[in-house]
Amino acid sequence: MSKTARIGIVTVSDRAFAGVYADEGGPAIRDYFARALASPWEAVTRLVPDERSRIAETLRELSDREGCCLVVTTGGTGPAPRDVTPEATGDVLEKPMPGFGELMRQVSLAKVPTAILSRQTAGIRGRTLIVNLPGRPRAIAECLDAVMPAIPYCIDLIEGPRLETDPAVIAAFRPKA
Ligand code: MTE
Repeated sequence: MSKTARIGIVTVSDRAFAGVYADEGGPAIRDYFARALASPWEAVTRLVPDERSRIAETLRELSDREGCCLVVTTGGTGPAPRDVTPEATGDVLEKPMPGFGELMRQVSLAKVPTAILSRQTAGIRGRTLIVNLPGRPRAIAECLDAVMPAIPYCIDLIEGPRLETDPAVIAAFRPKA
């Protein structure tokens, strides 16, 4: 039996953290993986305000101590003064993976012209792939549909658990059989 993959889901939002509104992004990411993944996995969820050190500490915790092979954030990628998720992500990354942000912005631009306002990034810390998504729940599937095909092979390369997807939802691409 394959090892249960742990996936970190981090909602970054001052207002959701304060209870001004409910967190919709975190549950949308969880629903996405529930549909897309066919191998065993479990979610490790966190809700943090838009504070660089808090975000960075949460990313370190999920990578180093919780053993997540993948951590997905939502929110805080735009240009507003409190938007600091990409900076916090950069603080903890060992290897930036700029292709993720490039591809997500490219596909998002076909949906909404303001996609260029997202500074979303991604990269590797130890055996963890960290990926930023914008805060809008709609953006979550739009962005994950674009990058998900390459994520299982990326996790293979960083020696994480083998992720299988449901091909009826999204097909993973592995160049080597
Ligand atoms: N990307 C997709 N796919 N769909 C969207 O609706 N919204 C954009 C952009 N990227 C959007 C998107 C908008 S309006 C903003 S301001 C930026 O993401 C940053 O959002 P964030 O600060 O909530 O992360």
